[in-house]
Amino acid sequence: MSRSWPYPKLIAHRGAGRLAPENTLAAVRLGAAHGFRMMEYDVKLSRDGIAILLHDDTVDRSSNGQGPAAGKTLAELSRLDFGGWHSPAYAGEPIPTLHAIAAYTLANGIHSNIEIKPHPGLEAETGRQVALLARELWAAASLPPLLSSFSETALQAALEAAPELPRALLIEKEVPQDWLVRVERLRCLGLNLNHKYTGKALVERVKAAGLTLAIWTVNDAPRAKELLDWGCDAIVTDEVATLNPNWAPSL
Ligand code: G3P
Ligand code: MG
Repeated sequence: MSRSWPYPKLIAHRGAGRLAPENTLAAVRLGAAHGFRMMEYDVKLSRDGIAILLHDDTVDRSSNGQGPAAGKTLAELSRLDFGGWHSPAYAGEPIPTLHAIAAYTLANGIHSNIEIKPHPGLEAETGRQVALLARELWAAASLPPLLSSFSETALQAALEAAPELPRALLIEKEVPQDWLVRVERLRCLGLNLNHKYTGKALVERVKAAGLTLAIWTVNDAPRAKELLDWGCDAIVTDEVATLNPNWAPSL
């Protein structure tokens, strides 16, 4: 059976995570200002079990702090600056909770792709907690968030906790031979693939299997058009100033 993609075709990566500090409310606001109606962002748990937006295991690269995020409480994380590393204009930008991002996106009609990005060893717990929280926060939404992860353990836990929420399996590099078995086992809508490992024949096989297909991170307009022409459902991009709904109004 063919699964349909209910979301926009253009998704802002880590919010507008290149022009603004990634995975912050400022980045999500900027993506929205450029016309994006869907955001991808990375979610993991603080030491006290609060779902927060952060890409890396540690806070070192994207804040003025140091150490694993999983070793800090939300109160400790909230004292750090997650914007000044990017540019002075964003100094003092706080780490957002999933709760805060849900409030902003829901109030502004923006859809979400929550990438579950667990700290190593916390895959099942993170998948479970994020799915349960997403169910609660998006209970009245027109569309639920798409949950995606490179971690099949996290997706399995999300499936068990909130089976009604849509899921997609992220693949880092080469697609494994048994991609269809993995997607079906996790009852996913489809695959979210790295564009560097995505050719036309693969797109056709995935679409012929009836799966959805989103491609990341595509920052070149001709490449984005090519992927969409091949039948991909969506692209995830950092280039919010150029690859936005004005670039391709039909999207
Ligand atoms: O969800 C697509 C993309 O965000 C995966 O890579 O490392 O940017 O989270 P990464
Ligand atoms: Mg991501």
